[in-house]
Amino acid sequence: AWDQDEARSIVSGLSHLEGATLPILHALQEEFGYVDPQIVPVIAYALNLSRAEIHGAISFYHDFKTSPAPRRVIKLCRAEACQALGCETMVDHLARDHGIDVGALAHSHDVAIETVYCLGNCALGPAALVDGELIGRLDADLLAALCSHHGA
Ligand code: FES
Repeated sequence: AWDQDEARSIVSGLSHLEGATLPILHALQEEFGYVDPQIVPVIAYALNLSRAEIHGAISFYHDFKTSPAPRRVIKLCRAEACQALGCETMVDHLARDHGIDVGALAHSHDVAIETVYCLGNCALGPAALVDGELIGRLDADLLAALCSHHGA
């Protein structure tokens, strides 16, 4: 988890370097898995740069993340064969009954659901990859359960 004191000591430990912005950002991401935006003013102050410059560096390099990775990633197939087997109904159900939108990170659930197009599992659709594991014959209840019981 993000630890502001530890983050500060990473910043101060590297701030003497020439062009310290990237080494600091890399070190923070390595330590915490992401760069929390609350450290930006600290880095800016330590390096005598503007906050905008630090934000610019973070967004320019796409490998920097600004929030922790979701605990579970569900890639839901919404291609033709899975559509014919009702995947859009599941998507509607998830939004209506659980307030989870595909494509948005469901923070309260700590799950990200993404759309993919064909997982090669058409005969056993609707299909999804759940943390890399192929799941077939998905239904709305199972999908909702996968969204709310991480680690289950
Ligand atoms: Fe969904 Fe092929 S269309 S797995």
